Amino acid sequence: MRFRIVDQREIARNVFRLRMEADRPVGWSPGQFFHIRVDDGLEHLLRRPLSLCEAEDDRRFSVVYRLVGPGTRRLARKGPGDELDVLGPLGRGFPLHEGDHRALLIGGGVGVPPLVQLARELRKRGVSVLSLIGFRTAEDVMLAEELAECGSVWILTEDGTAGRRGRVTAALEEALEEPPDRFYACGPAPMLRAVQSALAGRLPGYLSLEERMGCGIGVCMGCVHLCRDPEGRTRYRRVCTEGPVFPAEEVVFS
Ligand SMILES: Cc1cc2nc3c(=O)[nH]c(=O)nc-3n(C[C@H](O)[C@H](O)[C@H](O)COP(=O)(O)OP(=O)(O)OC[C@H]3O[C@@H](n4cnc5c(N)ncnc54)[C@H](O)[C@@H]3O)c2cc1C
Ligand code: FES
Repeated sequence: MRFRIVDQREIARNVFRLRMEADRPVGWSPGQFFHIRVDDGLEHLLRRPLSLCEAEDDRRFSVVYRLVGPGTRRLARKGPGDELDVLGPLGRGFPLHEGDHRALLIGGGVGVPPLVQLARELRKRGVSVLSLIGFRTAEDVMLAEELAECGSVWILTEDGTAGRRGRVTAALEEALEEPPDRFYACGPAPMLRAVQSALAGRLPGYLSLEERMGCGIGVCMGCVHLCRDPEGRTRYRRVCTEGPVFPAEEVVFS
């Protein structure tokens, strides 16, 4: 599908927000991702997966991404009117549960973007949202205002230059004082592993995983992650089609 870039700007150090418009309406849910071909040339044949951050309607979406390598650098050079070849939204997003009253959202770095639309959808359903978002330093902080429109936000930085000092996991116990019904987490694997071990058996929740991706549509098996099914059997599951969001207790970290 072709998407036209509406605008793109830097919103934190080396972090860009790209707004784009699809050439026709598409269905979406929070936590899904777009698989974007950053260039029509031969140099960047592989697509780059970026999470849906905001959906203005069923055609206009934002993604927020950090510059890390050649693909994201190429994307950052695009501007209004440029077109992108995009698959998606793909994958399984965050499930929403009838009857929930409180939700705890936990994000680290570029794991924060998919939580924005999730917070909006929860808010629309009357769920009270607390977001714990962690970054290395103040210059990396992003999307706090957007999350604050949907509930409370606690910012943590590792060096203490914004919000509280420490990692998001340091604030988990305090966040549980008013017990949420469920948690939703997205961020680097060490953060997800720490969240899983701190909340296991105490609170149901979901982890959104990141794996390097090839096809994005379940064919190449390039994105598999070890998971445990409810019967306790382990098997590899495809993050692109069976995830990226998995029930927290099913994810196995090595
Ligand atoms: C489902 C999903 C959703 C994602 N959503 C976002 C998002 O919303 N915002 C964002 O900034 N990034 C997101 N990512 C990560 C993003 O896809 C990579 O940063 C990007 O593809 C890197 O491309 P590149 O060519 O710039 O860098 P590359 O040269 O491909 O890689 C540069 C560095 O980034 C690391 N890297 C590359 N791909 C990934 C990956 N998939 N996961 C973890 N590390 C990776 C590499 O190990 C390397 O160190 C997501 C990844 C997945 C799987
Ligand atoms: S990226 Fe090819 S199967 Fe997931």
